[in-house]
Amino acid sequence: MTSKADILLMGPIYQPKLEELESAYACHRYWSSEDPEALVASLSGRCEIAVTNGGRGMSAAEMDMLPKLRLIACFGVGVDAIDLAHARSRGIAVSNTPEVLTEDVADMALALLLAAVRRVAQGDRFVRDGRWKRAGFGITRSLQGRRVGIVGLGRIGRAIARRCEAFNCEIGYFGPNRKDDVDYRYFDDIVALAEWSNALVAACPGGAATNRIVSREALRALGADGIFVNISRGSVVDQPSMVELLVSGALGGAGLDVFDDEPNVPEQLLALDTVALQPHQGSATHPTRTAMGQLVLDNVAAFVAGRALVTPV
Ligand code: GLV
Repeated sequence: MTSKADILLMGPIYQPKLEELESAYACHRYWSSEDPEALVASLSGRCEIAVTNGGRGMSAAEMDMLPKLRLIACFGVGVDAIDLAHARSRGIAVSNTPEVLTEDVADMALALLLAAVRRVAQGDRFVRDGRWKRAGFGITRSLQGRRVGIVGLGRIGRAIARRCEAFNCEIGYFGPNRKDDVDYRYFDDIVALAEWSNALVAACPGGAATNRIVSREALRALGADGIFVNISRGSVVDQPSMVELLVSGALGGAGLDVFDDEPNVPEQLLALDTVALQPHQGSATHPTRTAMGQLVLDNVAAFVAGRALVTPV
């Protein structure tokens, strides 16, 4: 009988799929181990596979604890927390979970956009607190006819654009390249896009190439009537400037699913009525998390069988 392949689990993934992984392989939970160093030392001579999630990632030092490591299977599409250059230099393959989460993440972008524009969370609190009995809630902005600027017209950005079209919005986008197969207006400069837009939605990957790409200048250009939505990564926006501009009213509002240093959210945002907040829930639905977990299982199975990965990065 051949023994089960060892897998070092860097962080949790969707529980039912974690259970499948744990029954099919010899899995070792690094994140909840009482002595992670001893655990890794005991595996270093043989463990070829690590499974991680998008937020947890895997650093170069962590990869180097496992000299035999050959695959990092990431539960999530964003691999910005994995040191890809180091993985490449060591010949370690990386897989992620693209496509299966696109529609749910785009739904969350629209939920946040609508929530910020129509003040949905504030209205909910208004009713719950009994304030409706004393006064009306007031009038809000409208999403209809807005110019929506999308930062990163990849799979998720396109899915957001399609939804915004259904809300009668005009679409512009910024990214490294103009796309020939869409009629949306292209901007090669993010500040120019923000200037044109009434709402700016960040949908680009995180990582060095997009670090703080939504700059203070871009947020200022978006302006006092502008709404900023982020379903990408906290790293893509200048968060301290975003907070400052929201507090002063120089930026009209925001819908935020992601932050620097999650789960910590700047105190000032919690007090702001112009902001809708979510705890990084973009892909967090049962069907999507099931499909993401299945892709992790499929990539691990392909690796173990010596086949090509299903979704290599
Ligand atoms: C979630 O943030 C992901 O990268 O899939």
